[in-house]
Amino acid sequence: MAAKTDKRVIVFDTTLRDGEQSPGASMNLTEKLEVARALELLGVDVIEAGFPITSPDDFEAVRAIARHVSRPAVCGLARCVPLDIDRAAEAVLHAKHPRIHVFLATSKIHRQYKLRKARGEILRLAVEGVRRAKAAVCDVQFSPEDAARTEPEFLARVVEAVIDSGATTVNIPDTVGWATPEGFHALIDYLFDRVPNISKTVIAIHCHDDLGMAVANTLAAVQAGARQVEVTINGIGERAGNAALEEVVMAFKTRPDAFGGCATGIKTELLHVTSRLVSRVTGLAVARNKSVVGENAFAHEAGIHADGVLKKRTTYEIMDPKSVGLAKSKLVLGKHSGRHQFRQRLKELGFRLTHKDVDTLFFGAFKELADRKKEVFDEDIVALVESEIVRQPETWRLCGFQVATGTGGMPTATVELEERATGRRLRDAATGDGPVDAIFRAFERLTGVTLKLEDYQIRSVTSGKEAQGEVRLEARRGDRLISARGVSTDILEASAKAYLGAINRLVARKKVTKGKARRARR
Ligand code: KIV
Ligand code: ZN
Repeated sequence: MAAKTDKRVIVFDTTLRDGEQSPGASMNLTEKLEVARALELLGVDVIEAGFPITSPDDFEAVRAIARHVSRPAVCGLARCVPLDIDRAAEAVLHAKHPRIHVFLATSKIHRQYKLRKARGEILRLAVEGVRRAKAAVCDVQFSPEDAARTEPEFLARVVEAVIDSGATTVNIPDTVGWATPEGFHALIDYLFDRVPNISKTVIAIHCHDDLGMAVANTLAAVQAGARQVEVTINGIGERAGNAALEEVVMAFKTRPDAFGGCATGIKTELLHVTSRLVSRVTGLAVARNKSVVGENAFAHEAGIHADGVLKKRTTYEIMDPKSVGLAKSKLVLGKHSGRHQFRQRLKELGFRLTHKDVDTLFFGAFKELADRKKEVFDEDIVALVESEIVRQPETWRLCGFQVATGTGGMPTATVELEERATGRRLRDAATGDGPVDAIFRAFERLTGVTLKLEDYQIRSVTSGKEAQGEVRLEARRGDRLISARGVSTDILEASAKAYLGAINRLVARKKVTKGKARRARR
């Protein structure tokens, strides 16, 4: 239980559940486990690992995370429906600290149109849901969905009833991003005034960013006494996303005066590396000007600002870049750099890798890069390691390609792939609107997989003509939106890697789903 006067704020991370609901952000099991481990290292208190009833993949992911992390609680989401709750209970069974999170909409609009249920029935279902979850685990969280638009006196009745039924945390979600900081502060104040048993539970908040106020609303609720913040890395989540973990945490750290000294257990020096990891596995780029973790967050362009920072950093920097794990970009290595230097730099950049992994997976690639590019910067090393770490299970490997292009002619690409299962090499050619299109079409001819390209972005990893290019794309097949990324000093190769990555990702996902379906039928 957390009193209003407690200073410690619980960090409930929902990157793997609400975050994964961002269009195009789906992650496979290996990626989810990697993110879960990173969240544990980062110091979050609760990991909401998924919504087990929604698919066998989600169930497996929650179960695997429950087995793999030990310090944070592992939470599975469930509607107030017996089957959902039982499935969530089964998924978190092996967690050291299992939690079930049940939710039910309480606002008038949801009651009338979505659920078609009267207030009394909502109350009954909420109580029954919490009781059923409580029979499985001690740690039960309840969320009255769309609380911010629920009539306050009805909300207070629901909160009181679920606390009486054993809810150890009651979360107040602003599901549609409708609240304002002042209004949300008043709502939390109201609950503290009107709910007689409120001190027996932890009040949490969960804010969406439809009007860009998710972080402000979260902070206002903490000022009013909430002691659990529900957040995601980089603020990813349904629609416009959720409150960003890094922003909320750094607000407490930077402005203890404004938040009564409230603090979290987050190791803020790991924020940057965790943000990059989530961006890499979800394919959702972080905006350059994103607070705390964006590329420009500590860049000073204006002469007066740059001069001020050189004289005294705090003239224009309210946070120390080192406190969020941002090493200043510098020329670090070149082709004469040895293994030891490379390992040391990886460590400083926040990667925890074994010597064997560094030697077998990355050192050769680093040497190759150093040959192609004289100056190797931190960003190059991060890009190199990241593209290797989340390499998808590959059905096809790119062996090589050639492109003929120019003005006036028809761009043509010849590509060669290896089918990993058989070692067979396949080669084909195609023409296209441009060299990138020609490469993509040649892949489609060889793999038989056609994707609809929905987004294609290219950016330079560092400055300079020799810089590596990073391609991020989103491609659709039916109702599946897949994100992928490729990095190379050659932008056509980066495009080829990204597109083949998307094809491999789609095929891998299909195999897993089919395998599970077969097992389920037996
Ligand atoms: O936004 C929301 O209301 C949710 C609930 C499940 C807590 O995500
Ligand atoms: Zn949500």
